[in-house]
Amino acid sequence: KPSAIIAPSVLNANFLRLQDEISAIEKGGAGLVHLDIMDGHFVPNISFGPDISKQIGKASSLPMDCHLMISNPEMFVDEFAKAGARYISIQAESTHHLDRILNRIRELGAKPAVSINPATPIENIKWVLDTVDMVLVMSVNPGFGGQSLIPYCLDKIHELRSLKPELDIEIDGGVKLSNILDAKKAGANIFVVGSAIFKTESPEETCREFVNQ
Ligand code: DX5
Ligand code: ZN
Repeated sequence: KPSAIIAPSVLNANFLRLQDEISAIEKGGAGLVHLDIMDGHFVPNISFGPDISKQIGKASSLPMDCHLMISNPEMFVDEFAKAGARYISIQAESTHHLDRILNRIRELGAKPAVSINPATPIENIKWVLDTVDMVLVMSVNPGFGGQSLIPYCLDKIHELRSLKPELDIEIDGGVKLSNILDAKKAGANIFVVGSAIFKTESPEETCREFVNQ
């Protein structure tokens, strides 16, 4: 199984002190910085787009993991690749042409990843598993940080891990110190953590605790 990585989501960071927040997770041992892109259409919330992502990329030594929760993702993948994204995750539910957009992302020099909502079966992405570098399994309904992990999503991770033992599997939503080991046991190896890092006194210390789990 591939090695474990913590990918803090800056969605719940303090945007007026973003440079400090990013330095904290760098020092805390994060392996990726997770950027949640929301358009108020695919999900009921709006976050930020390629311009702020590009600035975050410049402000950080960590590779960017851009999670696109947007309708018409084909309109924006070029921009996110240009902004310097290492991974670009596409929600399987957001496009009619999943295979095309994943191949486009690779053409642009980024790593394609596919994400599925809690209610979306593994079966829906079976035929693109060899096309992607990572699968992101949503463990909450996307749109907001600070929600509780939906337990059946761990069963989906388990199913996916048995299908492809060497796959990078990222879990996103409601990951806490109290359940990260369950997620690891289920087969996840990349862990998005938002509020459980940024809503604590010391994001650096907390990030380090997650890394040491
Ligand atoms: C939800 C986002 C997640 C989320 C993670 O739509 O994709 O990345 O913000 O935050 P926590 O860890 O607070 O659930
Ligand atoms: Zn996310």
